[in-house]
Amino acid sequence: MSWWLIGVMSGTSLDGIDLALTRLHPEHGIELIDAECLPFPTTLQDELKALCQPGNDEIRRAGIAGQAWAELTAEGIHALLARQQLKPEQILAIGSHGQTIRHHPELGFSVQIGAPALLAERCRIQVVSDFRSRDLAAGGEGAPLVPAFHQWLLEDPEHTRAVINIGGFANLTLLRPGQPVTGFDSGPGNILLDSWIHQHQGQAFDEQGRWAASGTASKGLVKQLLEDPYFSRPAPKSTGREYFNTHWLQQQLQEFGEQLPAADIQASLLELTAQSIANALIMQGCECRDVFICGGGAANTQLLQRLTTLLAPRKVHTTANAGVDPDWMEAMAFAWLAWRCLQEQSGNLPAVTGAKGSRVLGAIYPR
Ligand SMILES: Nc1ncnc2c1ncn2[C@@H]1O[C@H](COP(=O)(O)OP(=O)(O)OP(=O)(O)O)[C@@H](O)[C@H]1O
Ligand SMILES: [Mg+2]
Repeated sequence: MSWWLIGVMSGTSLDGIDLALTRLHPEHGIELIDAECLPFPTTLQDELKALCQPGNDEIRRAGIAGQAWAELTAEGIHALLARQQLKPEQILAIGSHGQTIRHHPELGFSVQIGAPALLAERCRIQVVSDFRSRDLAAGGEGAPLVPAFHQWLLEDPEHTRAVINIGGFANLTLLRPGQPVTGFDSGPGNILLDSWIHQHQGQAFDEQGRWAASGTASKGLVKQLLEDPYFSRPAPKSTGREYFNTHWLQQQLQEFGEQLPAADIQASLLELTAQSIANALIMQGCECRDVFICGGGAANTQLLQRLTTLLAPRKVHTTANAGVDPDWMEAMAFAWLAWRCLQEQSGNLPAVTGAKGSRVLGAIYPR
């Protein structure tokens, strides 16, 4: 038995909506058949970014932005199905994460917008959405949710493996044979790098980390950044734009006091991402041989080089070396999580999120 499922993810980087058309073979794994990233029109992107911070009339604005998000996703799904000559009724479900605009585990909630009912209406496919709230209701962080998928897909019965997703934020999963899977958000991934290069060079991201590589990281600044209490807080923990944002960075730079060239700050921010990830793995006592990287950060050559150095003798590679395209891991995870929900099987890992127990995640919007 196998199933067609579509995973939809738009992460904290706000670069676009990732669609992954998958064929799930419950006993053998998951095949990626087709995938696409739908870039956000600038107006929607700006509005989603603005909605991540407190603002005026936000309930109405979030309602409108959520519908625009669903319309864009539905168009992308129609195009994907046409390209693959598939009909909506052949698809078991769409697993749609939606766009996080607030993540407050300390208050017990996390808000993803993306009008799942409208998405079901436009696509005529059942939609599973709202994956985080049940874990939060059970006392968990509601994040990260991908470790269960990493375990299902990449666990090795003999060797410890680490999987690190570097999106806007970075989260890691440690797969140790015979032990509960652990994982948490290590801190910022690309978010600060994107924001700094955008502010100084008008680019959306630092292609292969070249601008960072042209500068020299300031040891003093990196040390100060790493002193933020988030990095030493024990797991379970998760974070987002409401904490690590341009305001946080401005404040850090003010306190630092020294004038640094913009490229040196980019280099320091890259160092922050690399060192916070490496420290998190080392603090976990990771005896692993292989560290697999996925997410957009896997395309940042400079970041991978730093991780390779910091994590030696462990071998750092992208998940491509484990047979999974690093760009589509997260979207595939939400296709899988939708299937888990429909099977009434759990999607969270209590040792990761801190929830009281395993829970079935998601809300179902019939076709
Ligand atoms: N060629 C590249 N060179 C350097 N960085 C890149 C490159 N391609 C992508 N990136 C980085 O990856 C980011 C997008 O990564 P991704 O889509 O995994 O993050 P995301 O959407 O925030 O997902 P999530 O937060 O859920 O993990 C971009 O914003 C950019 O910083
Ligand atoms: Mg993305």
